Order: sequence, then C-alpha cells, then structure tokens
Amino acid sequence: MKDKIVEKLIKAEEVRQKKVINLIASENYVSDDVLTALGSSLTNKYSEGYPGRRYYGGNVVIDQVESLARERALSLFKLDPKKWHVNVQPLSGSPANFAVYAALVPLGGKIMGLKLSSGGHLTHGQSVSMTGKIWKQVPYEVDPKTEMLNYKEIEKIAITEKPDIIVAGFTAYPRVVDFKKFAAIAKKVGALLMVDMSHFAGLVAGEEYPTPFKYADIVTTTVHKTLRGPRSAMIFVKKDKREMDKKIDKTIIPGLQGGPHNNQIAAVAIALKEASTPAFKKYAKQVIKNAQAFGLALEKKGWRVITGGTDSHLLLVDTWAGGKGLSGKEASDKLEKAGIIVNMNTIPQDPRGVMDPSGIRVGTAAETTRGAKEKDFVEIANKMDAILRK
Ligand SMILES: Cc1ncc(COP(=O)(O)O)c(C=O)c1O
Repeated sequence: MKDKIVEKLIKAEEVRQKKVINLIASENYVSDDVLTALGSSLTNKYSEGYPGRRYYGGNVVIDQVESLARERALSLFKLDPKKWHVNVQPLSGSPANFAVYAALVPLGGKIMGLKLSSGGHLTHGQSVSMTGKIWKQVPYEVDPKTEMLNYKEIEKIAITEKPDIIVAGFTAYPRVVDFKKFAAIAKKVGALLMVDMSHFAGLVAGEEYPTPFKYADIVTTTVHKTLRGPRSAMIFVKKDKREMDKKIDKTIIPGLQGGPHNNQIAAVAIALKEASTPAFKKYAKQVIKNAQAFGLALEKKGWRVITGGTDSHLLLVDTWAGGKGLSGKEASDKLEKAGIIVNMNTIPQDPRGVMDPSGIRVGTAAETTRGAKEKDFVEIANKMDAILRK
C-alpha cells in the first residue's frame, strides 16, 4: 500500500484482532474470499436501480452480481422466489429497518418494539433514533420475573395500542422467539409483523434457531453477525397483493439511497454461499453449544446469567448484583485490559440505566469461527471470573 499511515493502521487492527479474545456478540471474522470481494474493483461502479433497470450504463456484470446475491439469499433460507422478494442493497441494518418503516408505516404511525433496556435495538422505534421521531414507539418489555418475553402482555399492549407494525427479533435477548405467537398477535390487531433477525440469522441459516419466514411479513437482517458476512443488510418481503416488495424497492432507491455498494453485494453473495454448506451448519450448532457451556461456567463461578442461560449465541451477565458491584463499563474496561473484549449492556429492570448499565453482553460467534469449543469457553469464563474479582 502506498499510504503507509493507513497501511500501518490496518496492520495494527489486524494484530489487535488476532491478539484479543473477542466476545462481542455482533461481530465475526469473514473469510478471505469475502475480504477479496470487498477490496475489489466492483467498488468503482455506479449502478442506481436494480438488475435490468439501471440508470447508468455498463452494468452487465453488476446485474449478475446482484441477481446472484438475491438468488443465494432466497435459496439459503429456503424461500420460493414466487412468494418472497429480497432487496440486497441496504447499506447496513439500521438503514434497512428504516426503509421498511418508510415504505410500509404511515408517517406518525406506531412501531411496536422491545425497549432498549429489555434488549431491543435503537431502530425498533426508540426515541433517540429517527425511527422514534418520525414514528411513535409502542414499547414492550421482558417479564420482570422470568426476564423473557411475555406474549400475554405483548398481546394486551397490541390490543390497546393497535400498532401499524410489530417488531420481533432483538439485540440483547438470549432466548428463542416464538414467531407464531407474534404472528397471531399481529393478525389480531391488523399489524404487520417484521422480524429483525440480524443477530441470529446465521443460526437460522444453520437450522439451529426457529425460522421466522413461516410467520413474518417482512424479515430484515444484517449480514455481519452470526451470518459471518460483510457489513451489509437485506430485506426479505412477502410478495402478495399488498405489493410490499415494490414499495420496499422504491423506498431503497430512489427513496433513501443512491448507488448500491457493489463490492459489498458481491461479498454478501459469497457469505451466503458459505452459509449454505454443511460446515456452516456445524458452525452454527457449535456456536450455541459454546454459548450454553459458557453460561453454565459463568454461573458456576457465581455470576448471574440473565434468564438463566441462552438458546442462541449470546449471553447477558449481571455484573452488579449479588454484592459484585461492578458496572458494565467497569467490567468491560477491566476485561479489555486483560485482552477480553465485551460490551457493557443493560439488563432487564436495570437499576443503573442505559448509559451506565449493570451488565455485559457476550457472544460466541467470533471465537467459534476461530475454532473455539466448549472447553475453551469454560476456560474463558474462569479467566473472566478471576479478572473481574480482582
Ligand atoms: C437487531 C439489530 N438490528 C439492527 C442493527 C443495526 O445494524 P447496523 O449496525 O448494521 O446498522 C443491529 C446492530 O447491532 C441489531 O442488533
């Protein structure tokens, strides 16, 4: 590289990534093929529009790249192209979610989403996000006792508030989601059901987590978490007389974006193919086995694991209760000094608040990609315990 300053920074980040134990639940390590596609000449091309309908000339190859990504996306999740459409142009998860609301929820309408403090994402209608300024969030929470979703309560809120769209699928919720129950509630109140499977998409692809596609009207996902692809996102939408597919496409371009990031779309296509292999299925299974072993080991050391465990790749750990008295930030800083990277996170009924919460979130997707097994996560748990008690 001619730019020695940037080259040095890239090298330094590579070294940092290799050196640490990465427990960030939303991160992963992509393949060399994905990196090659990201750094390819596809980034040079402008291609506003969709395959076969571009504003710019010279898109013979790009059309094939985008069509391939679409085909692979539908095929990975076993979707019939006559019944489902996918848009692979969203630049990331937040713009993808924004696009869904912009396309399908009237301005000022209601988005029913899980509260941030219960594990929801900013783009599920939180007041600090544009999704909570343009639309009104109808919040729901996890049950204070079980720390899990309480579908009876969710139904009550939906009946009272009559939201336009209900969002299921979260940022910091370790358990499986009952999409069938969500769909029944949405139907009862005439709302759309959107599942944001960003966190667990790879586990759905590996058939280790329930698929939302049987029940949702729209499914959004990032590609860069458990799905192990580049930073990017996709919107899957049912094809029917509501013409949501056309509305979503029009909202992405010309509504919100210009030219798609074609290097990123090629990298998505590669990641989708990788995720369709038996090796990836094995990976998804191992991710969950590791998270469960990790949770048990932390509990054995006396740490309170929210909901008592996990069905997915992530765990929430209470660092405050039981006389431990560590804020999530203090815990995260202590761990980082010792080479373990986590993020501070609210826990349900957090006594300390969103900006300085009482817990940490950890995940197994990244280290499992590097080959970690259950015994490695027991070791990590023991190491964390020793660091945090110092
Ligand atoms: C459930 C969920 N949706 C959307 C996003 C947003 O994705 P991005 O950071 O790519 O905008 C995230 C990111 O953490 C997420 O967890």
